[in-house]
Amino acid sequence: MGNFSLSFALSILLLHSFALSLMNSSTDKHALISFKNSITYDPYAILSTSWSQNTSVCSWIGVSCGLKHRRVTALNLSGYDLAGTVAPHLGNLSFLRYLDISFNSFTGTLPSELSKLRRLKVMNVGVNSYTGEIPTWLGSLPQLEELYLNNNTFLGWLPSDMCNNTPNIKLLELDFNGLEGHIPSNIWKCKHLEILSLNFNTFSGKIPRAIGNTSMLRVLSLAYNNFTGELPQEISALPILEVLDVFKNLLYGSIPSSIYNISTLTWLEISNNEFSGTLPSHFGNSLLNLEVFLAAINRLSGPIPTSITNASKLTTLDMHSNSFSGSIPYFGSLKLLRRLLLWGNNLSAAEFPSQELTFLSSLTNCRNLQLLDVSFNPLNGILPASFGNLSSSLERIDVSNCNIMGVIPSEISNFSSLLLLDLAINQLGGTIPPAIGKLNQLQGLYLTGNQLVGFIPNDLCQLNHLGELFLSVNMFVGPIPECLGDVKSLRVISLSYNQLNSSIPPKFWTLTDLVILSLSNNNLSGNLSSQLGNLKSITILLLSSNQFSGDIPSLIDEGEIPDGGRFRNFTAQSFSHNLALCGLITFQVPPCHEKHHRSWLKKVMVPLGVLAVIVLIVTLLLIRMSKKKRVTLSVDISPSTAEFRRISYIELERGTSSFSETNLLGRGSFGSVYEAILSDGLRVAVKVFNLDLQGAAKSFDAETTILSNIRHRNLVRVIGCCCNMEFKAIILTYMPNGSLDKWLHSDMYGLDLIQRLKIAIDVAAALEYLHHGHTFPVVHCDIKPSNVLLDQDMTAHLADFGISKLFDGEETVIQTQTVATIGYAAPEFGSEGKVSTNGDVFSFGILMLEMFTGKNPTNDMFDEERGIKEWVREALEQSAVAEIVPHALLSIEDQHFSAMEQCFLSLFELAMKCLVVSAEERINMIEAAAALRKICATLVAGTESHRPRYAFPVSIRNNRV
Ligand SMILES: *[C@@H]1O[C@H](CO)[C@@H](O)[C@H](O)[C@H]1NC(C)=O
Ligand SMILES: *[C@@H]1O[C@H](CO)[C@@H](O)[C@H](O)[C@H]1NC(C)=O
Ligand SMILES: *[C@@H]1O[C@H](CO)[C@@H](O)[C@H](O)[C@H]1NC(C)=O
Ligand SMILES: *[C@@H]1O[C@H](CO)[C@@H](O)[C@H](O)[C@H]1NC(C)=O
Repeated sequence: MGNFSLSFALSILLLHSFALSLMNSSTDKHALISFKNSITYDPYAILSTSWSQNTSVCSWIGVSCGLKHRRVTALNLSGYDLAGTVAPHLGNLSFLRYLDISFNSFTGTLPSELSKLRRLKVMNVGVNSYTGEIPTWLGSLPQLEELYLNNNTFLGWLPSDMCNNTPNIKLLELDFNGLEGHIPSNIWKCKHLEILSLNFNTFSGKIPRAIGNTSMLRVLSLAYNNFTGELPQEISALPILEVLDVFKNLLYGSIPSSIYNISTLTWLEISNNEFSGTLPSHFGNSLLNLEVFLAAINRLSGPIPTSITNASKLTTLDMHSNSFSGSIPYFGSLKLLRRLLLWGNNLSAAEFPSQELTFLSSLTNCRNLQLLDVSFNPLNGILPASFGNLSSSLERIDVSNCNIMGVIPSEISNFSSLLLLDLAINQLGGTIPPAIGKLNQLQGLYLTGNQLVGFIPNDLCQLNHLGELFLSVNMFVGPIPECLGDVKSLRVISLSYNQLNSSIPPKFWTLTDLVILSLSNNNLSGNLSSQLGNLKSITILLLSSNQFSGDIPSLIDEGEIPDGGRFRNFTAQSFSHNLALCGLITFQVPPCHEKHHRSWLKKVMVPLGVLAVIVLIVTLLLIRMSKKKRVTLSVDISPSTAEFRRISYIELERGTSSFSETNLLGRGSFGSVYEAILSDGLRVAVKVFNLDLQGAAKSFDAETTILSNIRHRNLVRVIGCCCNMEFKAIILTYMPNGSLDKWLHSDMYGLDLIQRLKIAIDVAAALEYLHHGHTFPVVHCDIKPSNVLLDQDMTAHLADFGISKLFDGEETVIQTQTVATIGYAAPEFGSEGKVSTNGDVFSFGILMLEMFTGKNPTNDMFDEERGIKEWVREALEQSAVAEIVPHALLSIEDQHFSAMEQCFLSLFELAMKCLVVSAEERINMIEAAAALRKICATLVAGTESHRPRYAFPVSIRNNRV
């Protein structure tokens, strides 16, 4: 009987809980379907394919259920690029513990119904487009442990009761929002707080002293805010603090010396504040775990305590731009040291002049040293003989402006990894040691402003990665080594203010990527070669104060002579015998017509010594002294050829019917593109480079290098190449729908608004990836409709990387022989030859205007005064957007006219943000892509009947990186 009733009770219980779970898992399904319905953009078709009514929610992508009760416990939809809002029904997932919808484009505010998620432990809505104040109910989720709100635009203050009802919170990640105000004083009631990250907001006020109460705190990261006042002493009461980062705030006062007693610290960053005072003598004695100490750009003074050498785990020590004085300690015991930056202080090294710099000798123990910059300190000594025994992993050595005496030791040839050697503005004498030619990675050599003598050694010509050579203001004699003309990587040659004689080596005129050539103030003679015109990238050419004779070569098409600046003082004589010039009548040259090319040579002058027009005081010295950003140099990335298919010429010849006209898809600036069928039946496009054309081989290299290193669903994919001495071709995926150009400007085709939007989003995604999704930013340099190709689903793929550039991290770069397309090129491109990601943003802005007005920017209706941008801006100012949009795209009869008009308005406003004249003020492609997705989502939501006529292609998420 007992047995019976027990099992009876048990089965009733089971039945009951079964019914309960049935009922409630249907609640879950209902909640998730509502969630799905509020998604307006699902580019990888995650929800539309996987989240089907007929299957159990537990099998849906991103959904996890409890093993027993089969209720939804976790929802992870991170990184699917979803757009839309979050349906309030999500609050009905009453068993949810883990919610991660980060890395999407959700908009609006967080629905208050989410406050019903009483079991929620982790909530991650980071990297979306949420806005509004941080909801107060977040502070009452009783189980919450981790909260990520980073990279949204949350505004306003933190709720003052943030920690009252979330006793278990361990992690608060609020970076990159628009939060302001003070840190609420009760935040320290979160007794379990381990990580508090508030970087990149505009918080202000003091860092509260109550901080000392959160004894579990491991990471306190407050960088890039407006915190002010002193660093509270109470921080040193935090027993397990590992990271303290207050980079770039308005903090001042001296650092409480007890902070240096926190032995758990691994990262201490106080750079870019107004801290003053000295470092205590016990500084390094307790910091036994410290790996990174960053204290640059403050007002710290006094000596660098020798106890710092006890912090033996240090890898990075950056104390530049302070007022530290005294001698530089011997860092030899810091065996792991990789980066040492002490520049811009008042440090000395030797006790009496011409003593050896022994601190450099001690650094020979630091075998991992990569970066050594002690420039701009009065070191007053000589380089020790052991200088050459420093780590062979050194990549940058900067000892410029240090009053160094003696000679350059020939042992520097040991630095086999060295990229930059800067010894400028010192008192070095003697000759350049020939062994310098062994630094075969060297990209920049700066010896300006010393007392070096003798010939410029031919050994420099072995430096075949050299981009910048600065030897000006020395006492070099003799001819310029002819073989320098073989160093094709050179972008800057500065030899001014020496005693060089003979003529300019003819080979110099083959350095077509040269940007700056400065030879002024020497004894150079001879005629200027007419081949001067080959220097297509030159922006500064200084030849004054020499003994040149003859005329300025007429091949230099200078275009319009500017009438401002120093040109005002020139006489007509300066420009004689140059028929290609135009400008003011006083220069006795023909007047310029409106359409005359904007001069690429705005800054170029070719004043001959004989004519002695002016003495230019543009000393490149000054350029060099304006620390610290350098022209980026060639970046070596070899194509990962393993991924390539090697395809034989025979196979291509067969596949294109001997490159017949019928297979020809088009011709570009560097050759022709053919349609081909490979032997396994695959249809491909073959881009054949015409090697007779100047630059074609280079273009081939650029394109294969770049395309083989990157992968994205919106970039054309390289399948392989066919490459021998006489023939170079790359094999690309075939795009059956041809180029966007064809679709925009031919009557036979048509694209509706949604299709155009989607293509714009594709191009933006490609650029976002090129600029930001890769270790090296890639600048495409030639964004225009004919380089946007469409596959069978009308998904857009960016093509033609023939003139792209890879950069190693620096943002803006003076560059080379790049020929972008008129109409799309950014203004700084023409005037300064600057290539940067910002330039692509500009071209993208023009592309958007072209796509949504249907007008080609080179259309005759536009001129220099009033280009497509000005035309659209006028329409925006006059609220006459509908008038510049083709009737087929927007007409007053449209059912959703106002939603569509608003969409165009938003699009043009976005384009204007891409077209800001000042490159630095343009938005970036992350922002542009997010804005476009938002515009698309808004339009789709507002015009149900305007849903796309085609299905969004299902693509595999792994295509993304
Ligand atoms: C189960 O679902 C019903 C109906 O949706 C709801 O009233 C009830 O509160 C839910 N029970 C639990 C334990 O979530
Ligand atoms: C957050 O935004 C900043 C600035 O836009 C960006 O640099 C950072 O990579 C973003 N973080 C994440 C995790 O995406
Ligand atoms: C932050 O401080 C800077 C520099 O003092 C100031 O220009 C800026 O307006 C401040 N921002 C806020 C939001 O307080
Ligand atoms: C032009 O010449 C005058 C007189 O020689 C001089 O004062 C002035 O600075 C010069 N202007 C420029 C721009 O070089």
